[in-house]
Amino acid sequence: MIPKQTIDEIFEAAIIEDVVGEFVPLKKRGANFLGNCPFHNEKSPSFTVSPAKGIYKCFGCGKAGNSVNFIMEHEHYSYPEALRFLANKFNIEVEEEEQSDEQKEAANERESLYIVSNYAANYFKKQLTETDEGKAIALSYFLERGFREDIIEKFQLGYNPNEWTAFTDAAEKEGYQLKYLNQSGLSIVKGEKKFDRFKGRVMFPIHNLSGRVLGFGGRILKKDDKAAKYLNSPESEIYSKSKVLYGIYYAKKMITQENICYLVEGYTDVISMYQAGVENVVSSSGTSLTEGQIRLISRFTPNITILYDGDAAGLKASFRGIDMILKEGMNVRVVLFPEGEDPDSYAKAHTTEELKTYITENAQDFIRFKTSILIKEVGNDPIKKAELIKEIVESIAIIPDQIKRSVYTKECSSLLDISEQALINETNKILRKNVTKKVSNSEPEEFPDFYDIDGPQETQQQQETNTELSHWERDILRLLISFGDKSIEVETIDPSTSEPILQEVAVALYIVSSIKGDELAFENNLYQQIFEIYSEYLEQQKLPTHHDFVNHTDKNISQFVIDVLTDKYELSPNWATHKIFVTREEELLQKGVFNTVYAFKLSKLERLIVDNQEKLKASMPYEEMVTLMKEQAKWLEVKTQLAAKRGIIILR
Ligand code: CTP
Ligand code: MN
Repeated sequence: MIPKQTIDEIFEAAIIEDVVGEFVPLKKRGANFLGNCPFHNEKSPSFTVSPAKGIYKCFGCGKAGNSVNFIMEHEHYSYPEALRFLANKFNIEVEEEEQSDEQKEAANERESLYIVSNYAANYFKKQLTETDEGKAIALSYFLERGFREDIIEKFQLGYNPNEWTAFTDAAEKEGYQLKYLNQSGLSIVKGEKKFDRFKGRVMFPIHNLSGRVLGFGGRILKKDDKAAKYLNSPESEIYSKSKVLYGIYYAKKMITQENICYLVEGYTDVISMYQAGVENVVSSSGTSLTEGQIRLISRFTPNITILYDGDAAGLKASFRGIDMILKEGMNVRVVLFPEGEDPDSYAKAHTTEELKTYITENAQDFIRFKTSILIKEVGNDPIKKAELIKEIVESIAIIPDQIKRSVYTKECSSLLDISEQALINETNKILRKNVTKKVSNSEPEEFPDFYDIDGPQETQQQQETNTELSHWERDILRLLISFGDKSIEVETIDPSTSEPILQEVAVALYIVSSIKGDELAFENNLYQQIFEIYSEYLEQQKLPTHHDFVNHTDKNISQFVIDVLTDKYELSPNWATHKIFVTREEELLQKGVFNTVYAFKLSKLERLIVDNQEKLKASMPYEEMVTLMKEQAKWLEVKTQLAAKRGIIILR
């Protein structure tokens, strides 16, 4: 846990234009800065940074936030990670919780493994590019495969010499402890004997998200039926196969930009696709996909396209694994490469354009794909067909989104030539079974029935007042946050003489007094919460600034305020040059504030009155009815007053 005080300090120090400017070239435009949005592809800049408000906003894709949000979004950091990143950048010391000796030791172990792995990657690279053996055997191998030198360097490819202890000896000579060489799996230690695991292999380092080397894959150079084609690092404190994807470090930026991730089978597929200009590609390196790997991808995009090579043998075996991706709510598509080709060979033999076209033209939705593959085997056998339907329905049932489920049901009903209702019934059966399973596992999570259409439904009229009221509630907050410190001229009641007088007051004071004076509250909980925070400042004779809200530790609050601050009122694509608009709003401020407060109150009162009328229809104890009727009379009175004393308030 980072102490609250340090968090405040970080927020204060993290100047938005400096934070964003490190990643995005920014040009000054009036009071703001402008650049190309890092979160989507664009040709003309629509990404705006406002130093005054401490926020960024893209008018192309709508992303908006403060400094911490930016780092979280851009670097895919968690909240504490982003805070630490900024603390480091702005030289703020973060006192970490006191670590126990065991924790320290574990941290040291991990760090030592990272250091050894990093040394190994450099060593292998040197062997590849600077020794005769490496150049003659290994570098030439990569070049023959068609890997460009810049790509070989980028992916830090390397070579472990064809001697028993070349690497192990070199590492020990440099002072690396055998203990860590062994733990990382780079060396194999057996009693007195020790030797290199990757003897005579070309090396593919595996990186984590931030580019640190965790482990390696090593490929044999010559065809040898006795030895495995690839050897991989064993599991270690830093390398967990099920949580790592080969290539994710190089792919993450493009995955976000293109909003899709390609999944291939091997190391060389990743590298060849990348070299051909398709950079959003990762591999699970021979193993079947794990949940951890799917989660990793889902941090960047909900869209996965799996590229299979031609021999469709392992295809059916992979279906279970894909169901898991569906369960995470991701959109899965599948591309099948021509017989005998994998993405690597296809990318080599074709132009980038051809590769991209092939992928887009051959991508099929997974469930459709699965259905079409399985249906071929069924023929006219009714028992097999029943099994097939069950198979398909299992995939559909697993999708969390109800709308998607119903779309698939429709489609499969025509593909399988079976009634939609039958499929729905089957799906609901599975869903219920899953619920029972969950309940017996004592997970209280709810899984709604497929076609759950008779949930609580609001009447048309309720919906209308809801949205109208909610609109005015939001607008009140917008005025408070954007213009709370501006003054307007209002009529107030002089408490000593009870006479109306004209007085300049802050917008904040007017709005808060006016709403609290009539004992009104917001329907929306978040809005009410923000309103209360705002009122508390006023009670302490203070006015909150944008920053107090934009950097609020409650993310819902800060996100709401950022949205409000970048509303269309003030912000058109040429926000920066639109001073005129802002001034005009200030001129119109007085009118705007009066109207909004009036509209909010009217809308709210009507709501209260209708609600009360409804309540009064039911039978109830006499006292309760009296209370309700008194309340009703009060709201009616406030409503008649409202029209009469438009704008007049009693300052509290
Ligand atoms: N793999 C492995 N061990 C093996 C064979 C394969 O770990 N004995 C993993 C590797 O990560 C490999 C992936 O499975 O990249 C796919 O295997 P394959 O298609 O046989 O290899 P390619 O990537 O095509 O490698 P190459 O083109 O170098 O033959
Ligand atoms: Mn291959």
